[in-house]
Parts: sequence; C-alpha cells; structure tokens
Amino acid sequence: MSLEAKIILEDNETIIQLNPGESLLKNLTNNNFKLESPCGGKGSCGKCKIRILQGQVIPSSQDKIYFSEDELIKGYRLACTCYPEECVIIEVEKNFSCNYEIITTNKIQKISKDNLRVNIYEVKINEEILEEINNITSYINKTLQLQLNYSLDSLEKLAFLLKDDITIIDKIYIKTMEAKVIDVSTKPIDSYGIAIDIGTTTLAISLIDMKTGNIINNYSSINPQQKYGYDVITRIQYASEDEKNLKEMSKLISSALEESINKLLSMSNIDKLLLDCITIAGNTTMIQLLLGLDSFSISLAPFTMITNQIIDLSYAEVFKTHNLKAKIFLLPSVSAYVGGDITSGIYTTDMGHKDFISILLDIGTNGEMVIGNKDKLMSASTAAGPAFEGAKIKYGVGGVKGAIEAIKIEGNKVLVKTIANEPPLGICGTGVVDIVSELLDNKIIDETGYLNEEYLNEDKEYFITNKEDKTNIGFTQKDIREVQLAKAAILAGIEVLIQSYQCSYEDIDKIYLSGGFGTKLHFEQAINIGLLPKELKEKIVPIGNSSLDGAIKFLLNKDASNELENIIRKTDYIELSLNQDFNNKFIDNMYF
Ligand code: FES
Repeated sequence: MSLEAKIILEDNETIIQLNPGESLLKNLTNNNFKLESPCGGKGSCGKCKIRILQGQVIPSSQDKIYFSEDELIKGYRLACTCYPEECVIIEVEKNFSCNYEIITTNKIQKISKDNLRVNIYEVKINEEILEEINNITSYINKTLQLQLNYSLDSLEKLAFLLKDDITIIDKIYIKTMEAKVIDVSTKPIDSYGIAIDIGTTTLAISLIDMKTGNIINNYSSINPQQKYGYDVITRIQYASEDEKNLKEMSKLISSALEESINKLLSMSNIDKLLLDCITIAGNTTMIQLLLGLDSFSISLAPFTMITNQIIDLSYAEVFKTHNLKAKIFLLPSVSAYVGGDITSGIYTTDMGHKDFISILLDIGTNGEMVIGNKDKLMSASTAAGPAFEGAKIKYGVGGVKGAIEAIKIEGNKVLVKTIANEPPLGICGTGVVDIVSELLDNKIIDETGYLNEEYLNEDKEYFITNKEDKTNIGFTQKDIREVQLAKAAILAGIEVLIQSYQCSYEDIDKIYLSGGFGTKLHFEQAINIGLLPKELKEKIVPIGNSSLDGAIKFLLNKDASNELENIIRKTDYIELSLNQDFNNKFIDNMYF
C-alpha cells in the first residue's frame, strides 16, 4: 500500500505520496513545501517543526531535545527526523522563508566618464570618407584616437553596413567595452549591466544603465541552496558528499540567478541582447559552488580556497547556455572566509585609499571584519554562529515579515515591533539583541548571562508575546548562551584586529556596518550587550549592502580590476581560530 500524507497549511489541504526511505522534511521539500531547515536536515537546529494531527510517529531522540513532554503528546516533531510508517495528517506552519526583507541598494554611484567600462561613440562616416580610406577600423580608431580591437560580431555589422547602408547614413554608433568594439549600429545604442550579491540567505540584483550609472531596477530572492543548510559548512558538506550533490548545488544557484536576471530584464522592458556585463560578489563558498567547484578544502584547516584572482568568464561558461553574450566577472576573495563580498565592501567604502583608519564589519553566521587605511589592510573572520540570523534561537526567524525586530520591557509589559507590523512570528537578529539588552537593564539576567528563574513561565521561558492561537514567543537560557557565544566572538575579533594593526580605538575614524543585520542593528543595545565596543559608539556608519554596491562600482569602472587586485595584494588575513589572544578575549567577552 502506498504511504500518503495529508498536509494542512493554513486553509489548504494537499495529499502527497511519501517515499518511506526519506525523511518527512525531504518528502515535503520534494513536494514544494519549504520548511526552515538551517542545519540542512541534521536534527540540530530545531526549526523544521511540524505537527502530526493523525497517525503515530515515535518521537526521535532529537524530538525529545527540542520539544517538551506536552508538545510531544500534542504531536510536535522535527520533520527531518520523522519517518512515518503509516498514513498521516500533518500540520505545517506557514513558510517563513519566502518573504525576507532583502537589502538591495539605491546608492547612486559617482562615475567618471573617463573610466567607464562601456562607452558609446558617434563616428561620422559617408561615401566621401570611404573613398579616402582603405579600411574602416583604422579610420574609426584614428577618429576616436583609441587603439580598439573588434569583436567578430562588430566586424560583421561593419561589413553589412558597407554593403547596404553606406549611401543613406552619415554616422555610426560604436559600442566599446574596455578596449574592444562589441557593437556597431546606424541607430543609437544602449548598454546595460547587472550586479549581483550572492548572500548565503538571499540574492540581491541590480540592473544598471552602463552609460549613466543609474540603477534601473532591483530584484531580490531567496538563495535556494538554503534548503541544504543556512551556513556554508553544512552546504559544503552536502555538496562534497557526492558529485551529483555538487552539481545540484551549482544548478540551484545558477538557475535562480538566471531566473532573476530574466525577470529583472523583462520587468524593465529591456532586450536581453543589450546586457553587456555582469559582476558577481559573494562569499568564497557561494562563488565556488556557483561554478560547480568542490569546496571541501574550505571547510577544514588550513582552509584553502581555489583562487584569489578575479574570475573572468563568458555567460555560457557560468550558466551553461548560450542565451546571452554578456561577460561575467566574479570578484576575488582574500581568503576562504573573507570573500568577494568583503573585497567588494572594501572597494566601495574606498577604505584602502583613505588616510584615516576605518573598520568594515559584516555580521552574519561569520563575522567578517577588515581594518586599515591607504597603507595596509588586515582582515579576519570569526565563527559567530547563527544567533543573529535567528537560527539556534528557540523562536528565532530571519528578517521576515512578522519577525520581532525591536523589543522594550516596561514594567510587566513587553512591547514589541514587528517587521511590516505583521502579527509576531518569531524574533529576528535585531530583536534578539534588544531582548538581551532589555533583560540586562531590567536585571532579569546577570553579568554571567544567568536568567533569573523567578521571571520564567512553566516552559522555562521569559515570556515575550502571546500569539493568540498557538505559540507563546519566549526567550530561553539556551538562547542567551547562543547570544553570548556570538557577541563574544565578534567583539574578540575586533579587539584582536585592532591589536594586530597596532592601533587603538582613538585612532579609528569610522566603523562601517554592512549587510542586513548591521544596517538595522540598534547600536545602543548592541553596545550594551557587548557586541560592539562602546569606544566606537559615535563612529558607527551603517552602509547597507556594500557587497552589491561594490559589484555595481566594479561593473561601471574599467579600472576596477586593477583596484581589486591591489586590495587583494595589500590585505593580510589573520586566522583567529589559531590565535591564543582571540581565545582569551573570547572567554572574557562572554560576560555582559
Ligand atoms: S532540526 Fe530539522 S532541519 Fe534542523
């Protein structure tokens, strides 16, 4: 008899066939039900919660860790450790992972006309001029005073023009990319480029007018690889298990990017043949997986990546289709854990050209950080853990609509603000920082992080909110320990970096906070819990998606490759996992 599950999601019911050899999570994923699965189905994050309404499934050992006796009796199970042996009716909670607030960009790039990667020139030409020359490319080069090469496509267009159009025209338009003519026309020509930030969670894409530098449109979506884990290590492990998995991971991201590029072009009414260049920034693992490169060596000491060079490829090489002619640049990484997204951030802040010292900090599962000025740059990455992304926090969620992003305790009341003012679903990173800060200020936790039991409810949680129908959202002792680990790692990283750079807090002019969490973070609260140093309070500058901004800057500037190569050359990397000072400071910073 075939095994079936009836899935209830909000008001909809769907029947799916179950493959008994696969977990319920895998069965649901195969049938397009997306559950949060930060640990990639390993039973270690507690997020893939479902409820069995009918049918028997014996609780797994992981179920017993994540659910109380009462919850187990009510049928709560982790989908990734659930293997039904009879037909079941299952309730799945609304998918949180499809409506992330994604930080794109609206920053206008200052561009110099002299440095544009793509240029469009008008060249006077007619029958009389042709009588005086014996070849057309020398004439164009001489007229423009440039040494240009010509693509086959542009030579074919010139040949056609000489044959058919020359009697009716008096000028042509020449499109160049760097020193190469890539298009010729008797009518004005346009040129567009696309800049992409591949985040571990989200993809952010901007369509740019290459002639003016204006942003035409932005588009964003979820990184579909997250069904195999929210952090890079889990994804690397999955991709390295088998060549088939590696191909699947590469295909997942390349298909999502292609789909996003097509949507962005069609919603902007732009012909895809006018797309001349694409730049992609992302952490080292994201870039390697996009290219289908096995990344196992990134996951183990000595953490070796494949290349620190700019990768310059054709559209066909990256996307395995000949759909578009656009050239693609993938921005280079400093190290396995300071990737092209950070290089891009260094480039866009211009910190490597400044007299003053600044810090660039991007807080995600890893806290990546760079310090420096025009003389030298130094970088590090610390495994902060996913607490500020909502993972490993009992009621944690990403930056989705309904996530609690701000919290204030007033007497017996807890006031919350959610993203988009939707009913509360869980707590995102900024809410996590706020609640810990409030618990400290109200002396509900002490400096060791101990949560005073007299404030806890019967589930051993500090009560935050009561979602009318089902879930009490609370904060647990274990959640506080996760925050302590994360904040101690970030602050210890900053301290070691400053010490290694042989400077002090007074010498630092700015601390740039990049990324979604950094941009939305409440600084006072972050300083209060010891995530950021109080000495830098007046120097914090949130800069949004600096990875995407750097990719746009690279797209527009023909000298960008030299700049990025310079950044790679002058940026040292400190391996914090082997640094005794870091370990000592990490332990000290665990206290509040
Ligand atoms: S516990 Fe099931 S996906 Fe993490």
